[in-house]
Amino acid sequence: MKVLIVYDSVFGNTEQIAHAISDSLGSKENVETLRVNDVRIEKITGLDLLIVGSPTRGFRPTKAITNFLKRISTNGLNGVRVAAFDTRLLLSSIDSSVLRFIVKTGGYAAKSIANRLKKNGGNLTVPPEGFLVTGEEGPLKDGELERAADWAKIAIKVQ
Ligand SMILES: Cc1cc2nc3c(=O)[nH]c(=O)nc-3n(C[C@H](O)[C@H](O)[C@H](O)COP(=O)(O)O)c2cc1C
Repeated sequence: MKVLIVYDSVFGNTEQIAHAISDSLGSKENVETLRVNDVRIEKITGLDLLIVGSPTRGFRPTKAITNFLKRISTNGLNGVRVAAFDTRLLLSSIDSSVLRFIVKTGGYAAKSIANRLKKNGGNLTVPPEGFLVTGEEGPLKDGELERAADWAKIAIKVQ
């Protein structure tokens, strides 16, 4: 099973989630975890599972993740299992009720990543998932690293 985890991270929280996912997937020799700017597009070839994660910024993935997804050709993920995650603000950490409403209804990065991966032929193995930070720069809410590990184990088991 050849697995690639591609992530972006501004403050380090999404990076922590990416590594928690990678640690949970067992045998290291076939699991590679790369920051998006270090990924050559040829890395996509021959994968069994591609997991992509981004901080949610303005309801979307980062520019670097969006550009990476655009570089994958239309059928580039045919036969590849895919999964998507993001990090996002814990709603109760936002003081303003107006802002809370905007963040809640604006949408999150994981869904648009998943849609793009599916569009390129990938088979989504688990629903897109968001992991929570308690402020813009973090830290992660307690228990999120463990929740990410559990989520990834489902992604790798589903055929
Ligand atoms: C410019 C900016 C825009 C953001 N937009 C959103 C947003 O639309 N929704 C949300 O839930 N969190 C938003 N956040 C909070 C980020 O999701 C949070 O900074 C991120 O999860 C931290 O991950 P990182 O440490 O990997 O960068 C935003 C943060 C910044 C700085």
